[in-house]
Amino acid sequence: MSHNELGGNEPGELLAATDAVDTAGSTRRPDPLCLVIFGASGDLTRRKILPALSRLATRGSLPEEFTVIGVARTPLSDEEFQRRALEAADGGGSPEWKRRVARFSYVAGDNADPAMFTRLCERLSESDLKGGTAGNRLYYLATVPGQFAAVVRGLGKAGINIAGKMGGFSRLVVEKPFGTDLDSAVRLSAAIHADFDEDQIFRIDHYMGKETVQNILALRFANSVFEPIWNRRHVDHVQVMVAESLGVEGRGGFYEQAGALRDIVQNHLMQVLALTLMEPPGAAEGDVIRDEKVKLLRSVVVFDEKQAVSQVVRGQYGAGSIDGVAVPAYRDEPGVDPLSQVETYVAARVDVDNWRWAGVPIFVRTGKRLRHHQTEVRMVFQRPPHLPFAGKLARDLRRDSLTLRIQPDDGISLAFGAKVPGPTFTISNVAMDFSYSEQFPGQTVDAYDRLLLDAMVGDPMLFIRDDEVQRAWTILRPLQGAFAQGEPRLATYEAGTWGPEEADRLIGTVERHWRNSE
Ligand code: BG6
Repeated sequence: MSHNELGGNEPGELLAATDAVDTAGSTRRPDPLCLVIFGASGDLTRRKILPALSRLATRGSLPEEFTVIGVARTPLSDEEFQRRALEAADGGGSPEWKRRVARFSYVAGDNADPAMFTRLCERLSESDLKGGTAGNRLYYLATVPGQFAAVVRGLGKAGINIAGKMGGFSRLVVEKPFGTDLDSAVRLSAAIHADFDEDQIFRIDHYMGKETVQNILALRFANSVFEPIWNRRHVDHVQVMVAESLGVEGRGGFYEQAGALRDIVQNHLMQVLALTLMEPPGAAEGDVIRDEKVKLLRSVVVFDEKQAVSQVVRGQYGAGSIDGVAVPAYRDEPGVDPLSQVETYVAARVDVDNWRWAGVPIFVRTGKRLRHHQTEVRMVFQRPPHLPFAGKLARDLRRDSLTLRIQPDDGISLAFGAKVPGPTFTISNVAMDFSYSEQFPGQTVDAYDRLLLDAMVGDPMLFIRDDEVQRAWTILRPLQGAFAQGEPRLATYEAGTWGPEEADRLIGTVERHWRNSE
């Protein structure tokens, strides 16, 4: 009898097709709509939004009645914006993309100028009447963060933040950063909420759109083998790592204002942590999942002043080499202050005070110019209570671990001890490996494709809710305070290594070590 006759799925068989079906099994083709991109002449539009739209068009995921209105200060004609849209697509885009781009238009103007919003209203009415977009609007804030409030106010004043005479929806997509600290996040939230309700707001953290981040949910909650051991009784400690081998890639000016804490820890790392450690949700639905994430974040212990120094490492890369190529120190990157104190690396011990995780050290780290580009979660399990194998033959065994590799080599591996063939009973570490690319070749969907489609359909599950944002800033506030005072002392690490020695000492305080790859 085959596995399938037993009612199971063959390996590689999909339980739910990619972007055609959602977790509830319904089809996901958005209703007619007009996408308005603020910041349409900028980098994010060119590098992420337009390419994602072109792939959605090519896959047939866009509704027939769909158009884009680009808005920015740079004066461009409709034709120039259309040309940019074609150039942004891989290889100029499919015939399907070209057909759609021919309907795109552009409004030039200042976000503080009511006349610009009047012109936008005219374009929207035209799109509804001639293009059949039915009053449905998705506004995408792809501007610099300093413009978010002005755009939202402009939409509010023009009355296009709510359904118009024809009905339809108005949704707002917001890109990080959601503020730069708790106070600014609260102010930004108040400014947005003055014109948009929370259920109209879709905050993007592109990590939530990654297949393997979503797979944390599948691994934990679609299987019965992992959840029983996912707790303090079996887990010795947890390591979460977001490592990049890239440097600041010409964005030195931006990074000087951000640093690793704001750029990665507050958002991507906290999201991965929350999905890994949260309680099982009752349903894979927007607010159910988000409630669980917030609950978990509320159990994360907010560092006190002492812990903000003793449980945290702050580092900055010096010169070194990555894959044999010499790279400059952070302070020598263009746009960076030669005496900069900005951190490009953070490691911390986090504690979660709840029944599931009390007493389990959670170590997180992130950095630029580390040895490899590698994002992963590693659950390290406790040693067996008793080892019946004599002396040194098993003594050096590592603790078993389960690694969720988020990128680049997406997959899951379980490391455990096995007997080495031969006359003595020697036990060695081995691994069982699952690789996404081998199992599902060519099926990965880019994070932006998924998130854009979800925002069009109105599915909030993978978007960040206001209370999550604020809780993440609350957790980090003491660190921001300490960092501003130059505490803990800025450690340096050579580019191309796994970070400063201070981070080894941090995890060494509980006699553990980072699991680094070669
Ligand atoms: C962005 C950060 O949010 O995430 C960048 O601003 C970082 O500094 C990037 O490089 C990492 O994303 P990914 O998908 O390459 O891991």
